[in-house]
Amino acid sequence: MRTMTNQHRRRLLQLLAASPLASLLDLPSLIAQQSGSTSATPDLIANVGDALNVFDFEAVARTKLPAWHWAWMSNGAEDGATIRANREGFEHYQLRARRLVDVSKTDMSVTLFGKTWETPIFLCPVSGHRMYNPQGELATARAAKAKNHLQMLSTMTTTPVEEVNAARGEPVWFQLYTRPEWSQTRELVKRVEAAGCPALVFTVDLLGGRNTELFSRVQQRNQQQCAACHKGNPLTDVTNRPMVNALRSSPGSKPEIATPTWEYIKRRLKELKLSGPQGGCYRTKCGCLRICTRGPICVVYPEGAWYRDVNEANAERIIQEPVVGGRVVDDLCFARNPLP
Ligand SMILES: Cc1cc2nc3c(=O)[nH]c(=O)nc-3n(C[C@H](O)[C@H](O)[C@H](O)COP(=O)(O)O)c2cc1C
Repeated sequence: MRTMTNQHRRRLLQLLAASPLASLLDLPSLIAQQSGSTSATPDLIANVGDALNVFDFEAVARTKLPAWHWAWMSNGAEDGATIRANREGFEHYQLRARRLVDVSKTDMSVTLFGKTWETPIFLCPVSGHRMYNPQGELATARAAKAKNHLQMLSTMTTTPVEEVNAARGEPVWFQLYTRPEWSQTRELVKRVEAAGCPALVFTVDLLGGRNTELFSRVQQRNQQQCAACHKGNPLTDVTNRPMVNALRSSPGSKPEIATPTWEYIKRRLKELKLSGPQGGCYRTKCGCLRICTRGPICVVYPEGAWYRDVNEANAERIIQEPVVGGRVVDDLCFARNPLP
């Protein structure tokens, strides 16, 4: 009788993993017992085809990637408490297998902005893919094309959007991190629009700054290694970020602080010539108006009307109706404290 090779064992386990019997077996320990022989280190897969789930890739990535890049990928905000809570939260979901039900034809399609996708699986924007593989976003785009998945490209991509679109076979969605200067944000959006991207995904998580402890710890120990490829701080070095390093800085434009609605109000009042003594409109900003829900909050004087949910669209209404037209926007106004 022929002995079972490691490859055969792995195949068998893959088969079992896909079977309804899987829940009766202790697959992780079975896999651990046999996987030592497929690679030098126990539990590490030697080939892509050997992977039983995505976590098999994670274990290999950890051994192969530079420490800094690994830390960046696996890092969460602060001390990683949210990642842990999410993982723990997902443990509470269970898949209930429905036996004797015909599941040969299932429809998981979703329609987003008028386009229907066969599955709800999409690829998140995840910074620069060449940090992890020389083919970077092009390989990701080809994979997305092969399975017809929606792909979102990060502002911090290491491949230009035009090339990614060509590899994907259609324009991808583009994730936007606003730039410190408005003129640069505009230029970036115009380029993405010209490339045909049908949707812009505005990420706000960095606007208030971000502390990443694991990453900072690893970075402290790897300064020299980083200097081999990066100019200065790898976090601010945009040498390999083609969507960002191509941006021009317009002479005289001032860096904006990271509060887009406020900057919008400032720009619009200036455009409408409403600012200062000539325009008759003064702005002042304070960090907290002691209203902790439905912010950002805005108060317009002299009528002392307090407005909630001041995003850009509402800010425009507030400019047009009370500031220009002298009418209170009733559906946004939640308090009136006119000047005496
Ligand atoms: C390595 C890494 C890089 C990321 N880069 C970006 C990015 O450039 N832009 C962005 O909007 N989100 C970025 N994210 C957030 C992801 O798009 C996603 O929202 C987040 O990872 C949560 O999804 P998950 O639980 O499936 O990981 C990044 C996440 C990771 C892990």
